[in-house]
Amino acid sequence: MTLFLIGMPGAGKTYFGKRLSEYLNIKFYDTDEIIEHKYGKSVREVFSEFGEKDFRKIESEALDYCFGISEDIICSTGGGIVEIQENLNKLKKTKTVYIKKSLEELENRLRDEIRERPLFGDEPFKKLKTLFEKRKGLYEQFPSIEVPFQELSEAKLKEIIGEINRIEY
Ligand code: S3P
Repeated sequence: MTLFLIGMPGAGKTYFGKRLSEYLNIKFYDTDEIIEHKYGKSVREVFSEFGEKDFRKIESEALDYCFGISEDIICSTGGGIVEIQENLNKLKKTKTVYIKKSLEELENRLRDEIRERPLFGDEPFKKLKTLFEKRKGLYEQFPSIEVPFQELSEAKLKEIIGEINRIEY
């Protein structure tokens, strides 16, 4: 199965995606990693250098790259991927799940690293809340799953896979 993962920064998309891909023995892609590979810089640097508007274009290209892969993959996307309508349209035609977390969970999760992320600026928690509120409705257009932050046991992983398999696309 090819599966796209969406959700806020800090939701655990990458950790879950990697675990899932290892378990299913299929390749893992991450739009942030594709960008880093292409530009030879961290996402942080690309974001700061190009600005948010161009970053969204770059990110959409990385997503398109993943849509073009013919074998089954797990693809984790940057939190802002849903801000571009065209991306939403394309994601709706594939298997996409929203890794749902509450604002409180994200605040706790990002507490130690939020200041290092350029996206969140000078008032990071305020920005996190704004982004959460702006994107919530966009993410919720997709089926959601709950993935714990704790290390995922095989039993839990199987349970989540079962849940994903039951989603009708
Ligand atoms: C962003 C999320 C980041 C990264 C960039 C912008 C966003 O990815 O793409 O900093 O706008 O939410 P993660 O969601 O993987 O942290």
